[in-house]
Amino acid sequence: MANIVLVGAQWGDEGKGKIIDVLTENSDVIVRSQGGNNAGHTVFVGKTKYVLHLIPSGILRGGKLCIIGNGVVIDPVGLLKEIEGLVSMNIPVNGQLFISQSAHVVMPWHKQLDILKETRKADGKIGTTKNGIGPTYSEKADRTGIRMVDFVEPNRFKALLKERLEEHNKNFLANGMEALDFDTIYATYSEIAAKIKPFVKDTVILLHEAWKQGKSILFEGAQGTFLDIDHGTYPFVTSSNTTAGGACTGSGFPPNHIDKVMGVAKAYSTRVGGGPMPTENSEISDLLHGLGREFGATTGRARRCGWHDAVITRTAVMINGIDELALTNLDGLDTVETVKLCVAYECNGIRHEYVPADITVLEHCKPVYREFPGWKTPTTSARSWDDLPENARVYLKALQEECRTRLSILSVGPARDETFTV
Ligand code: IMP
Repeated sequence: MANIVLVGAQWGDEGKGKIIDVLTENSDVIVRSQGGNNAGHTVFVGKTKYVLHLIPSGILRGGKLCIIGNGVVIDPVGLLKEIEGLVSMNIPVNGQLFISQSAHVVMPWHKQLDILKETRKADGKIGTTKNGIGPTYSEKADRTGIRMVDFVEPNRFKALLKERLEEHNKNFLANGMEALDFDTIYATYSEIAAKIKPFVKDTVILLHEAWKQGKSILFEGAQGTFLDIDHGTYPFVTSSNTTAGGACTGSGFPPNHIDKVMGVAKAYSTRVGGGPMPTENSEISDLLHGLGREFGATTGRARRCGWHDAVITRTAVMINGIDELALTNLDGLDTVETVKLCVAYECNGIRHEYVPADITVLEHCKPVYREFPGWKTPTTSARSWDDLPENARVYLKALQEECRTRLSILSVGPARDETFTV
């Protein structure tokens, strides 16, 4: 029985949903601890595709305790849609899904502010998902947010809604935008609150009780290390701690009970939104988009693509304490003539082995590549290390060494069984 934190080692979209789904088989409790419905975890069960944004994908396995922790920001409209969607597919949620009383609620003004802030920026747009994530975390830090515990108590919610709307409407009117209507929001949101209320609990106690009973807990990270508010390519980041430490602060689970940190990375790199990405190139972008790959689960946006950047992954291994790496989308490189792996950066004659914290340096970094002959053979039917073509094994061994970690899981296709341990 192990308590595992799973994190993205790149810029999100590493295929965490699928690896979480595989690990969930041996976990009793699955916890989301940061982010919101900016995340989109895709899981295939048989031929059915599920995309979950807020609810831990463990819900699809049945009989697992699924917790949305205090560190998550929750859009009640999106949450209810997800709950109702699962119920309509006969996936039970009652008695399995619990939501922290302390999680902050995304309100309509947060989404409006997200759009307002992004449209105001001429250059340097972050390219947010426009789900109100940043403004909700800003109000949380400003101590003016609305928490689940307030949201599900009608009188408390009413008073807070009045107070917050007064302030935000002044700002919207001053910016030529329409004011938000109290009555409409109160009617819609209090109806949703009543439906969500049965799921709202003190999840810290729930989690500790499960741990005391010897249950194994899986922390399902959202986004990736380089979107972390502290360690990412700031300001082109999300507003939460996507790194391993966020699992503890975002759930109330103590760090000394975590047994293992697992990272997830793709065999190549992708990024959505703005910000530096040293290995980005059109050769691999055109190839992957041409194969119908790399369009966002949440926004449908075409992702930016590049070769695997071992400087990024190596730095993620250091920050998160990654014990093992799951590598996904190996099959995306099946048709490539020469596969490149970025092993260092060069900037003004200086070689960087780790990601420089100064974004103005990172923006000018040129990747230093090692090149490998492609395997030019489909890998999707591989179910063991020995099934892989020799050239793929050479590339993977080099990747593992350059990232200074151990490969433990390989994913060669979207389905549950297109995965194996190495
Ligand atoms: P926000 O999280 O919506 O504020 O967006 C901030 C940045 O994080 C943008 O570049 C988004 O594209 C990116 N981002 C947020 N969530 C995800 C995710 O789940 N996968 C990949 N990128 C994300």
